[in-house]
Amino acid sequence: MSISSVRMARWSVWRSPVVLPLSRMEVPMTGARHSSTMPVARQTYSDSSSFVRSFNDIPGLWKNGVANLYNFWKLDGFRNLHHIMVQNFNTFGPIYREKIGYYESVNIINPEDAAILFKAEGHYPKRLKVEAWTSYRDYRNRKYGVLLKNGEEWRCNRVLLNKEVISPKVLENFVPLLDEVGNDFVVRVHKKIARSGQNKWTTDLSQELFKYALESVSSVLYGERLGLFLDYIDPEAQHFIDCISLMFKTTSPMLYIPPALLRKVGAKVWRDHVEAWDGIFNQADRCIQNIYRRLRQETGPSKKYPGVLASLLLRDKLSIEDIKASITELMAGGVDTTSITLLWTLYELARHPNLQEELRAEVAAARS
Ligand code: HEM
Repeated sequence: MSISSVRMARWSVWRSPVVLPLSRMEVPMTGARHSSTMPVARQTYSDSSSFVRSFNDIPGLWKNGVANLYNFWKLDGFRNLHHIMVQNFNTFGPIYREKIGYYESVNIINPEDAAILFKAEGHYPKRLKVEAWTSYRDYRNRKYGVLLKNGEEWRCNRVLLNKEVISPKVLENFVPLLDEVGNDFVVRVHKKIARSGQNKWTTDLSQELFKYALESVSSVLYGERLGLFLDYIDPEAQHFIDCISLMFKTTSPMLYIPPALLRKVGAKVWRDHVEAWDGIFNQADRCIQNIYRRLRQETGPSKKYPGVLASLLLRDKLSIEDIKASITELMAGGVDTTSITLLWTLYELARHPNLQEELRAEVAAARS
């Protein structure tokens, strides 16, 4: 799936050479249950005393990017990325280096190794550069948000955003908004089941969860419901969803083929990518205008939480362009991550009814 490949790539790319301790011992994972279609990486033990290899000694397929791109294409890599990665981990060990097209990465599977890396990064972690996304911003002369910024500028924006997005105090504001969206989703599911006349609802759940995640994240960020659970979807909201889907879809090929090249030859994928981001940024512009209109109309202080975007505008600590850039990235970062994780969670719960019951009991106990 194109969307998940972007996310997996997030974990996997470090452009500057990194030297990491390599775990040496590999043993098969025992007692793990898995279906025949699920790829499983053999469990490995990290041993902090193991020696450090130089960048060029990291095993993997990184000598011929073009040949690797051809093989990736032959294996239908965009759809099979997870299988290919697991196979590579099983072949090369828990840390392997790879070059597909122009895209170079060091892939790590053990959480312990990831922790070592994150600790070593210090105050200015090197962020993944999604070339397609930075190319669009350079092309349109737009600012980078926290996902794409680096160094001091990243830190400064991030510290301000932390207060508005992840501090426990503000999370309280999000709960009623997310609760409303969650309840509406459940109502929609029941309605669909009732309407089917067969006491069940057969659907493409990934699409439904994509809408659920987008509705949730929009509600928190923009303080506005998009109305994605309605039978009639507002054409502007529909255009916004189409743009997000198109943005993810067109990102995948540009992870491996340089956007600058695609732009030069006027490739459709690049033109579609630009059109998609234009639509996404237009939505942010529309929301900002609505917020200003709302603020002008309000006489006294409003009791209702207005959403992250309005809060940032009211705080006036970041420039409007910086706010727009980070809000757009928060939106782009919050949709596929949540929906795909939920999809897998539901799949696993469906396969393990006893766990489902346990979880239900835990939720019920917490609510009572
Ligand atoms: C299960 C859900 C999620 C997963 C698995 C996930 C995964 C990730 C990963 C792997 C990174 C990169 C970390 C790094 O480079 O060190 C990241 C960064 C980021 N994510 Fe998420 N994410 C999730 C949910 C969300 C949500 C809900 C939002 C927004 C509402 C979001 C917004 C962002 C942003 C803005 C960044 C960049 C942060 C920075 O560089 O300062 N993510 N996420």
